Amino acid sequence: MQTKLTNILKEAKELLANATGIAEAEQVRIRMLGKKGKLTEILRSMGTLDPEERKIIGQAANNVRAEIEARLTDRFADLKQAEKGLKFEAERIDVTEPGKQRPLGAKHPISVTIDEISGVFMGMGYSIAEGPEIETVYFNFDALNAAADHPSRDMTDTFYIDENTLLRTQTSPVQARTLLKQNPPIKIISPGRCYRCDTPDATHSPMFHQVEGLLVDEGVSMSDLKGTLDSFAKQLFGAGVKTNFRPHFFPFTEPSAEMDVSCFKCGGEGCRVCKGSGWIEILGCGMVHPNVLDVGGIDTEKYTGFAFGMGVERIAMLKYGVDDIRLFYENDMRFIGQFK
Ligand code: PHE
Repeated sequence: MQTKLTNILKEAKELLANATGIAEAEQVRIRMLGKKGKLTEILRSMGTLDPEERKIIGQAANNVRAEIEARLTDRFADLKQAEKGLKFEAERIDVTEPGKQRPLGAKHPISVTIDEISGVFMGMGYSIAEGPEIETVYFNFDALNAAADHPSRDMTDTFYIDENTLLRTQTSPVQARTLLKQNPPIKIISPGRCYRCDTPDATHSPMFHQVEGLLVDEGVSMSDLKGTLDSFAKQLFGAGVKTNFRPHFFPFTEPSAEMDVSCFKCGGEGCRVCKGSGWIEILGCGMVHPNVLDVGGIDTEKYTGFAFGMGVERIAMLKYGVDDIRLFYENDMRFIGQFK
């Protein structure tokens, strides 16, 4: 029996020393001290011994149990500490590690340009109006005094959705909608997308942007139009630019004009940007046609107004020296990232 006890203690020590985790140490406890454990078995079988022997072996067995229990306690404590250490190591955060780089976005050059144009007119007291891109033939053409046979109505120029619905070809329908909704004084600009059946090339895109403007009040004249747009041009392109108004035709304005600005690249001497002429066409404008005011329910005896419309891509290309309109829609970050 003594030998057995010695072997049990030896085995327990070895097993505990090799236990790599709390669960394994617990197995050792069960194997030795559990209900069916080796030491428990010995204690149970002691009934067969004579009293003298029982006393000695009992003492020895208790010593072995005490020794194993003490070792178990120590080993449990050690293993717990070790497991904690592993857990801490796994959860460790290296605060000195460099952060992940997130590329910063930039405003799209078209948005930048719309903001610049809007900023100038908001500074003059204009507010922003919006209209739908899917528009009725009525607001895009009829309400704007476009003749029934006006060429821009053609299927080859306009994206029709059905007989009465189209993708607006200009922001001017917002004029007609605003005249119906508001009473003078009216002072709005309306930036937005427009669509025309154009084959994409360096200067054409089937989708593009315009900024429309409309002012209606008592006593508004062509000189107000010229003063406003001249001031706009100087704020957008530089105080040194001059403006020139050439007669033109639009169904919804009378008289109508196109405005040129003196070339802000060469100062008017003639260069690549202005194609040698010294002037750059910037926008269409005119005095709102009485027929358009009529449709909007505006008293044409009392009120007059002016309107203008400009292509955003064209202005952005001129301002930033972009030579292909398609660059605006390719979303190449190397291009877009330059307009921060
Ligand atoms: N809508 C015209 C165009 O697309 C521009 C314009 C707007 C002209 C308002 C006069 C007045 O060309």
